[in-house]
Amino acid sequence: MKTMNELKQLAKAKVTKCRVCPICNGLACKGEIPGVGGKGTGSSFVRNVEQLKKVKIRMDVTCGAITPDTSSELFGNKVSLPVYAAPIAGITNNFGAEITDTQYTADILDGCIQAKTIGFTGDGKFIEMFTGPLKMIDERNGLGICTMKPWVKEGIDLRLEYVNQSNVLALATDIDSAGLPLLRNSEIPVETKSTAALKELKEALRVPLIVKGIMSVESALRAKEAGADAIVVSNHGGRVLDETLSTIEVLDEIAQALEGSVTILVDGGFRSGHDVFKALALGADGVLIGRPVSLAAIADGAQGVADYFENIRKELMDVMLMSGCATISDITRDKIAVVKD
Ligand SMILES: Cc1cc2nc3c(=O)[nH]c(=O)nc-3n(C[C@H](O)[C@H](O)[C@H](O)COP(=O)(O)O)c2cc1C
Repeated sequence: MKTMNELKQLAKAKVTKCRVCPICNGLACKGEIPGVGGKGTGSSFVRNVEQLKKVKIRMDVTCGAITPDTSSELFGNKVSLPVYAAPIAGITNNFGAEITDTQYTADILDGCIQAKTIGFTGDGKFIEMFTGPLKMIDERNGLGICTMKPWVKEGIDLRLEYVNQSNVLALATDIDSAGLPLLRNSEIPVETKSTAALKELKEALRVPLIVKGIMSVESALRAKEAGADAIVVSNHGGRVLDETLSTIEVLDEIAQALEGSVTILVDGGFRSGHDVFKALALGADGVLIGRPVSLAAIADGAQGVADYFENIRKELMDVMLMSGCATISDITRDKIAVVKD
């Protein structure tokens, strides 16, 4: 199995736009879109990573001998760890990598299946950018989650026909993509969504609905009212709006407001098993990782993705051992502290 550093070194030789920094923190790539940076000054991406450092783990090694079990489940599907590959589209253009989007999608889905977790796929301006990955999920017994942009009704109806004929674990919609200039001006544009529009989407679906791009209690409650089965607390890795709060800052209050009624996933700046532990302690049921998983796929295909998740799983296991958590449900709020600096 390759280490995180070995994967990074391999990736570095294969990309021209991402610098593959020692810590993927948004500083070197500020404002680079196309590219892997955050929008504008890049502050939202940078803040996602920085604020995670303010959450500290409480050690507890007097609770007897334990062998931590990192397994969890998502919509009834057992996973080896509650960490998933985030949807990332436009891999060639954004990373400056030679891998095609089709090969990338296959590597993400297969690497996740090998690691016993789930990969999300993306969407784009052309319908094939959605239906291609969806077909690949269908061919893998539905072991994947497709993500649809918040198109106006015409674009949604077109895609829903395909979703409802496919074997897929769930449909996610990244409603925060309303902030992507390229899509706002496309022939079928994206738009921000009302509770009624999300409800209509939920009612037309026969698989669970995940609403991605929730950054406030109000939005979370509206997603719940619309019938969402899960939300992703996300600012799209800082790519849709500058100067937002970080996802870890808003997670706690959202989790408290939802009181366990909706599955909560979170992403943005999570880079280690330690970071995953912090999110679980603050109320998340799972974590999505974006850019570093993409680099692992670019580095070594499906095997790179599987190795990446195994590294994260081992780190998470170590943190669980040292904090007295035998199972994922033992990771509770009292296991962490939020410090000022
Ligand atoms: C190059 C790039 C492309 C992305 N494409 C999509 C997409 O098609 N759909 C989507 O929901 N999110 C997309 N995202 C956002 C990710 O799913 C995720 O929210 C974000 O990358 C998480 O932050 P992290 O990369 O810091 O882990 C993209 C992000 C990047 C960097």
